[in-house]
Amino acid sequence: MTDTLAISGGTPVRNTETHPWPSWPQNTSDEWNNKIEPLLRDVYFSSNEGSGGTMIPRFCELYASYTGTNYALFMPHGTDSISAALAAALDLDGFSEGGEIIVPNYTFVATASAVLERRCTVAFVDISPETFTIDPKAVEDAITPQTRAILPVHLGGHPAEMGTLQDIAKKHQLYLIEDCAQAHGAEYQNKKVGNLSDVGAFSFQASKNLTSGEGGMVTTNDKDIHDRVCAFMNVGRAPGGARWEYPRLGWNYRPSEYLAAILLVRLELLQEQTNLRNRNGVYLSSLLEEVDGITPPIHAPWTTKHGYHLYCMKYNPDGFGGKSREDFVKALSAEGIPCSIGYRSPLSMEPGMAHVGEKYPDLIRTLPCPNTELVCEQSVWLFQNLLLSTESEIDQVVEAITKIHNAWN
Ligand SMILES: Cc1ncc(COP(=O)(O)O)c(C=O)c1O
Repeated sequence: MTDTLAISGGTPVRNTETHPWPSWPQNTSDEWNNKIEPLLRDVYFSSNEGSGGTMIPRFCELYASYTGTNYALFMPHGTDSISAALAAALDLDGFSEGGEIIVPNYTFVATASAVLERRCTVAFVDISPETFTIDPKAVEDAITPQTRAILPVHLGGHPAEMGTLQDIAKKHQLYLIEDCAQAHGAEYQNKKVGNLSDVGAFSFQASKNLTSGEGGMVTTNDKDIHDRVCAFMNVGRAPGGARWEYPRLGWNYRPSEYLAAILLVRLELLQEQTNLRNRNGVYLSSLLEEVDGITPPIHAPWTTKHGYHLYCMKYNPDGFGGKSREDFVKALSAEGIPCSIGYRSPLSMEPGMAHVGEKYPDLIRTLPCPNTELVCEQSVWLFQNLLLSTESEIDQVVEAITKIHNAWN
């Protein structure tokens, strides 16, 4: 006797109308009244809502100290942060070809579009099927005389294999640039992401584990890179330089003081929230290990802290009576557990990217990516806000998956 699945008219394990999952961001009246509103008020009455205010320098200082880097530079978006990181590391003005950048083929579109926007070419390489992050062996195989940088992504919050990538970058004299958009607070051997390469790029877009709706950050330990990011984002000015002097060419990527004010408050909670997501992530995996057909995400040995922007598991139809992953996602969603198949195809095969590749074959080189293809077929993602719930709520995720498992076997 099995329970009728919600998708077939049964009662869902969780009624999300009466019992919603933790909202994101976790806004409260208390926080607004005591923290956010006074800071926004300060900005408003300072008559200094853009550059020259105090919130952005304060937030940058705290974020640099959080990541352990010498510098942090607040940007309007994560995509801009990748562009600025590349422009600064490679000293590119964007008017000549910048060389080739090695990018994992399993990532958000912006990782590669920011590279193309800087007039660099992209080499898409495979990922590890365990961590969903760039495979160092595939990186080394892809290197050519045109290669200038490696751009690993800490996908879903799991740190890429940075030690090996550092060795490869050093051996071949390449820049290493981290896409940390999904990995605030994640640690590789006790060192925070964004501090494991020449330069890191974060996003504070609405879904991210630290957010101001939109926003980004570049982190680096290198003074020259810092200065070039300053020029890139501030119409070519030198840090602390005169207003009408432009020693380099740059653009306007200056964010608003209001965003930094909100982030200052939310940064206070980031570590505690990351720890909670880690506790719940590990707890969930310990239970899902028992379910035939589900492979929970791993913590590779170098991962001293997972960022858990996503809980990326893998689904095998054999454990679920042969039902497709798409059917599983529909059934799990109906049980009140929000989930997604994630990236549906390797980024190189997404129509926009494929179109660029067809029109300008010299811009995109795609190496064999069997693991990426497999992960695109098997992955099921849960989202970070779910991991901010209680253990008994995490039990409902397992209950829903087990219910589907039993109904289909
Ligand atoms: C891996 C990755 N890189 C880059 C970005 C771009 O960030 P943004 O949306 O802030 O431009 C995102 C998220 O949106 C992302 O997930």
